[in-house]
Amino acid sequence: MRILVVGSGGREHAIVRALKRSPRAHELLCAPGNPGIGRDARVHDVAVADVPGLVALARAESVDLVVVGPEAPLVAGLVDALAAEGIAAFGPGRAAARLEGSKAYAKEIMAAAGVPTAAWRAVEAPDDGMAAIDRYPVVLKFDGLAAGKGVVIAQDEAQARAALDAFLVERRFGEGPVVVEEHLEGEELSLLALCDGVRAVPLASARDYKRIGDGDEGPNTGGMGSYSPVAEVDEERAAQIAAAVHQPIVDELARRGTPFHGVLYAGIMLTADGPRVLEYNVRFGDPETQAVLPRLRGDLADLLLAATRPGGLEGARLEWDPRTAVTLVLAAAGYPESPRGGDEIRGLDAVPARAEVTHAGTRLDDEGRLVTAGGRVLGLTALGESAAAARAAAYAAAELVDFDGRQLRRDIALRAKERLTT
Ligand code: AMP
Ligand code: GLY
Repeated sequence: MRILVVGSGGREHAIVRALKRSPRAHELLCAPGNPGIGRDARVHDVAVADVPGLVALARAESVDLVVVGPEAPLVAGLVDALAAEGIAAFGPGRAAARLEGSKAYAKEIMAAAGVPTAAWRAVEAPDDGMAAIDRYPVVLKFDGLAAGKGVVIAQDEAQARAALDAFLVERRFGEGPVVVEEHLEGEELSLLALCDGVRAVPLASARDYKRIGDGDEGPNTGGMGSYSPVAEVDEERAAQIAAAVHQPIVDELARRGTPFHGVLYAGIMLTADGPRVLEYNVRFGDPETQAVLPRLRGDLADLLLAATRPGGLEGARLEWDPRTAVTLVLAAAGYPESPRGGDEIRGLDAVPARAEVTHAGTRLDDEGRLVTAGGRVLGLTALGESAAAARAAAYAAAELVDFDGRQLRRDIALRAKERLTT
C-alpha cells in the first residue's frame, strides 16, 4: 500500500515506524514530517492546516490510504475532503471530530449515550461559572481546542475567577463556553480504540504523564512520557471498559448519522466508583502511541484501512507483545510556557537500535545540525520483560541524548505495577 501520514510530531513518527514494521512492505509518505520521519518516509512540505494541499498531494501520489495524526485537520474536515475525492482516510469526519473540538458537545453525547463522566455544567459568563461551583478543587475547561492548555484545576475562588476571566472575558482561546466540572480522584488511564463506524476495538491500555514535573507537579503539557500496558487494565478489563465508554459513543454517533471512524481515545479516571471519562480525543494519543504501537503485532496498515470501511473491523483480533513499553519525552528549555528553539541535539547516534527514537520538535539548521524546534523534542521508547526493565532501558537511552536546557521527568512508569505472568 502507498500510505500518506499527516503530521509532524512524535505520534506521527511512531505511526510511520509501526507501518514500516508491517510484515508487508508499504510505501510511506509523510506531510510535513520532520528530520527523523524523513529517514523512514518520503516527506512532503505541505502543512497540516493546508487541506486543499494535502488532498492534492494524496491525489498526485495516488495514495491508497491517508492516516491523519493531529486533531486540527480532522476538526477542519480533511477526511471529508479526501472522501469527496474517493481517497480512503483514517480518522473521523468533521461532524464526528466535534467530540474533541467541543467539550460541551462531548458531554452532551456522553449524556445521550449513558457514558459515566464527571458532573458538569456549561456556562457563558464568569458569574454563572462561580455560581455553578459548590466545592474546591473544581475543574474548568474551555470548550474548544486549546493545545492542552484549556483545562484549569482551581483550588480556590481566586483561581476559579482568574480562569473564568481568562476563558470568557480575555477570550484566551477564542469564543465558546466553559465547562465547570466535578473534580475526580483516582489513577488516570488512556484507552484508545480503533473504530469502523459500527464497533470499537480497544488497543492496549496506556498511561500518560501530563504534568511537566516529577510527582505530577507544575503545569499541564502535551505529555511527558507514557507506558503500556497498565497492568491493572489487562485485555479483558480493557474490553469491559471499551464496552462502557467507547461502544456507546460509536453507537450514538452512528444513530445521529455521523459514524465514527478512526481512533476514539478516552481519557479516563479510574475512580472508587468505577471508570469515568474525562475527555475524548478523536486521534491517536501523543505520547501514548509511542508506547502502544511498538507492542502491536501484525499489519497496522490493514487495520487502519479496514477501519475506514463501515463495519470493516469485523473479526479483527489485535495481538500484543507481552512486554512493557516505556516512552520518555525529552522537552526543550522553557516548555510548556515558551519552548526555546535552536539548541543543538547531541548523542542520538549512540542510542542503541533496540530503543526507538521518535522525533517531534527537531529541525536541521543552516549548517545541517539537528536542533530543537518545538516543545517536545524527542521520544525514547524501550521494551522490557517487566515495567522496571523497560524503564531502566528507556532511561539508559535518554541519558545518551542531550541538548541545553533538556527537560526529562524522572518518574515515568516509576509506580507502574508489574504484569502478573502466567
Ligand atoms: P483533559 O484535557 O480534559 O484530559 O484534561 C487534562 C487533564 O486535567 C487530565 O488528564 C486530568 O489530569 C485533569 N482533569 C481533567 N478533568 C478532570 C476531572 N474532572 N477531575 C480531575 N482531573 C481532571
Ligand atoms: N497524551 C495526551 C494527548 O494525546 O492528548
